[in-house]
Amino acid sequence: MGSDILSGWCNNDYYFDDLAVFGLGFFHPGGIQRTKKFLLMYDWENLDVLDVGCGNGTTLALLEHYGARVYGIESSRLMYLAAINNGIERERIALEKIENVSPEARKFDFIVIEGVLGFIEDPCSVLNRLKSSLKQNGHIIILDWEPHQRRLNLQEAKNYGFYVYGKTKSKYIKKHLEGLGFNVSENIEDSIARSFTLSKDAAELRVKSFFGLQRINNNVRQSINRKLAKMKKILSEDIACKSYLLIAESVYAQQGAAPSPPFVLSGTS
Ligand SMILES: C[S@@+](CC[C@H](N)C(=O)[O-])C[C@H]1O[C@@H](n2cnc3c(N)ncnc32)[C@H](O)[C@@H]1O
Repeated sequence: MGSDILSGWCNNDYYFDDLAVFGLGFFHPGGIQRTKKFLLMYDWENLDVLDVGCGNGTTLALLEHYGARVYGIESSRLMYLAAINNGIERERIALEKIENVSPEARKFDFIVIEGVLGFIEDPCSVLNRLKSSLKQNGHIIILDWEPHQRRLNLQEAKNYGFYVYGKTKSKYIKKHLEGLGFNVSENIEDSIARSFTLSKDAAELRVKSFFGLQRINNNVRQSINRKLAKMKKILSEDIACKSYLLIAESVYAQQGAAPSPPFVLSGTS
């Protein structure tokens, strides 16, 4: 990886770039177990699936494993690189903010959005646009935090690009999706958002491995220490929270052509 990317990372404070480099790219409440809950509800074989804010590609890799044709959109350059390192083909991911992507010719059977809406300034307008990227019997699956449950220092959270407060409550998003003509099912459970407990030594190892470095010089070490201190301030302990899973089914599916099986969500995990 080029030294320009390393120095870019050292000199910037992009929260998601930091998560990618420190190896915390798969980062939503309930983690992989919560994702598997909806993955196991459908037969993904030959479906076109878009993962918005796909992070390090963990969900895309699982979907690919289940036979889906996967596509991702990701705004963090280093997350994008982490996803490619995790085996997702470069051509399958657009390095772009979802707000800037125009509806494509390609339409999707499913659009998955995990732990992303809270970082978007106007999540409802993004959902409006995503609707036009769905096939007629398509689904949007949203997995996210109930915002008021997060114990973050608001100002610091905002500095990192969080907009979680208020706009992404499940009730609000559900109502909006219903207004767009979707049938929406909701499942809320208690979750733990992963804590950030990386030691300096472990952080240095991850930075070395991410950038393919033999050794860490003082400048890089200083950046690591500064970034660790910042991240620990907002993510220092397990965050008890409620997470929600919304499954929005296009109304066209009601009119006969739905290929997906009915699903049953179990209670809390
Ligand atoms: C909390 S992480 C979740 C990543 C992944 N979806 C997961 O669940 O592990 C949020 C991701 O959304 C990406 N993201 C944030 N704002 C975005 C935007 N406007 N457009 C596209 N991706 C965005 C971040 O770069 C980050 O990778």
